[in-house]
Amino acid sequence: EKGGYDTFMEKEINEQPSAVADTLLGRTDAAGRLVLDELRISEDELRGVNKIIVLAAGTSAYAGTVAKYAIEHWCRIPVEVELSHEFRYRDPIIDPNTLVVSISQSGETMDTLMAVRYAREQGARTIAICNTNGSTIPRESDAVLYTHAGPEIAVASTKAFLAQITAAYLLGLYLAQLQRKLFTQQIRDILGALSEIPAKIQQVLETSDDVKELARNMKDTTSVLFLGRNIGYPVALEGALKLKELAYIHAEGFAAGELKHGPIALIDEGQPVFVVVPSPMDRHSLHAKVVSNIQEVRARGAKTVVVAEAGDEAVRDYAEQVFYVPETLPMLMPLLTTVPLQIFALELASAKGYDVDQPRNLAKSVTVE
Ligand code: F6R
Repeated sequence: EKGGYDTFMEKEINEQPSAVADTLLGRTDAAGRLVLDELRISEDELRGVNKIIVLAAGTSAYAGTVAKYAIEHWCRIPVEVELSHEFRYRDPIIDPNTLVVSISQSGETMDTLMAVRYAREQGARTIAICNTNGSTIPRESDAVLYTHAGPEIAVASTKAFLAQITAAYLLGLYLAQLQRKLFTQQIRDILGALSEIPAKIQQVLETSDDVKELARNMKDTTSVLFLGRNIGYPVALEGALKLKELAYIHAEGFAAGELKHGPIALIDEGQPVFVVVPSPMDRHSLHAKVVSNIQEVRARGAKTVVVAEAGDEAVRDYAEQVFYVPETLPMLMPLLTTVPLQIFALELASAKGYDVDQPRNLAKSVTVE
């Protein structure tokens, strides 16, 4: 049942090319237009959407944060990401033009379910991005966009995360198409780039020996920091969460720009810092800013481990180790940069002898509030 792998988590990490491919499958018609047929909200209603609230918890909320960057960029619709357990208790402002998008692998997370119910009571339209057919959250939503990652058994989410991001991109492109925020050709180009992602994830998987070796060498580490910026910021948060969950190591993710506002005080000799570097093609030129963050922490003794795009030579001089991922559109990078961080956490936890499929204190679906 583990398909030749030692753990479900390893199997699920290796299933990510098909999780993304299957989530993309059958979403365009003969004319190349997007069709999301599980969407039971009228196109007119979706044309009127002028605000999106994403509700989710944990890893699923990080998928929501990735979606925020992409959807705001493509659709010019403001997107708020709210932890579902905070949402109900802050008098959120919702009206019929607000689209609430819940993201939940299990579809049973009580915090997220209660938040979706509350949003509906307030008059919002709700779409569920969910990996579990017929589960409660999709049943209680106006529409569903299923991710097709297949059952996720390991408690820590991996393939569901990439599938959630993929589904959220599709939703963003669909809205961009309906609201005419992108040209047809731009949408085609993004879909084309998305269709190449599964093979690129496969490449990352096949070149992960160095990541594994580093993880084994770092098994006695007691703290790891993760930096990311823009759409790489939620990737840093996810990298830190995987390490906490699986290896029980103190790990924290920061937006790289926040470093100078406090966290840089944590850096001392030997402190491992992972940096998710934006594409050199990023339209805001954040690449140079993050490279200078790497220099800053390194000058203070940090051991820097960098995840960057193939061909990015500028990072080499400042990194103890660089893991390259294949090139893609800047907005799609999380589907690739997340993978080495998952493998790192898996391998480090395994080296410590921990049960990666059933980490202590955690349950696969959290059905209490
Ligand atoms: C982390 C993890 C959790 C879940 C969170 C939400 O690896 O698995 O943080 O992402 O509990 O669960 P779902 O997506 O089922 O609502």
